Amino acid sequence: MRLVRTIAELREALEPHRRETIALVPTMGAFHEGHVSLFRAARAEADVVVVSLFVNPAQFAEDADLNGYPRDEARDVAIAEAAGVDLLFAPAPEEMYPPGFQTWVDVEELGSRLEGVHRPGHFRGVATVCLKLINIVRPQRAYFGQKDAQQVAVLRRMILDLELELELRVLPTVRDGDGLALSSRNARLSPEERERARSLPRALSTKDAQRARELLGDLDVDYVEVADFEPRVLTAAVRVGDTRLIDNVILEGDTE
Ligand code: PAF
Repeated sequence: MRLVRTIAELREALEPHRRETIALVPTMGAFHEGHVSLFRAARAEADVVVVSLFVNPAQFAEDADLNGYPRDEARDVAIAEAAGVDLLFAPAPEEMYPPGFQTWVDVEELGSRLEGVHRPGHFRGVATVCLKLINIVRPQRAYFGQKDAQQVAVLRRMILDLELELELRVLPTVRDGDGLALSSRNARLSPEERERARSLPRALSTKDAQRARELLGDLDVDYVEVADFEPRVLTAAVRVGDTRLIDNVILEGDTE
């Protein structure tokens, strides 16, 4: 595996592979089994697997959240390498947002509800960085987790609206033994908070919004809603102490 830090280096590394199948897995690092499932799927389906590792400042509204985001590059490098990743792209913020940067992608309606209400500007940052990564890597396929169902819906819309030529592959949410969806943010939970957080997957597993709201009564709930994404999901966001957790279950189809 090669670790590259600049866009020019990444483009140069990909140049000999332009006639092959290229897979892109955009990430913010702090890898867990959920990420590894994306790396493995990409490895099975493409000739060249590119993973980006970039804690994207544009999708964080609060400095404390950005600065507190877990980072351990050496560990991530080892995990990506073991999963068969070919190129790990870990740029500095100035590489992605050089001075003078001022062009943004806003998926207006889909990006402004649910998470968008509680994290204004979040999906503008996500869509913009993903479009940049897609333009740099020019993959045939990009891989995302179903856990971020609204992110998937926003990116699907962007791909459609901007005529991007790639397939979006969505992999099932990976959960711990206690049902909690794997997330880099779980590391911030104290044992007592983790115990309380378990009511999130338990509530969603009812697949009933009203029942889920009742079961989440003890937590600080941002929303519990049925969302008409593809597929339709019951989705929720809660705060446990200082940690904000999101999760969803699919209400139809057999993807999860
Ligand atoms: O899901 C994430 O980790 C991020 O939102 C993404 C897609 C890598 C964009 O920064």
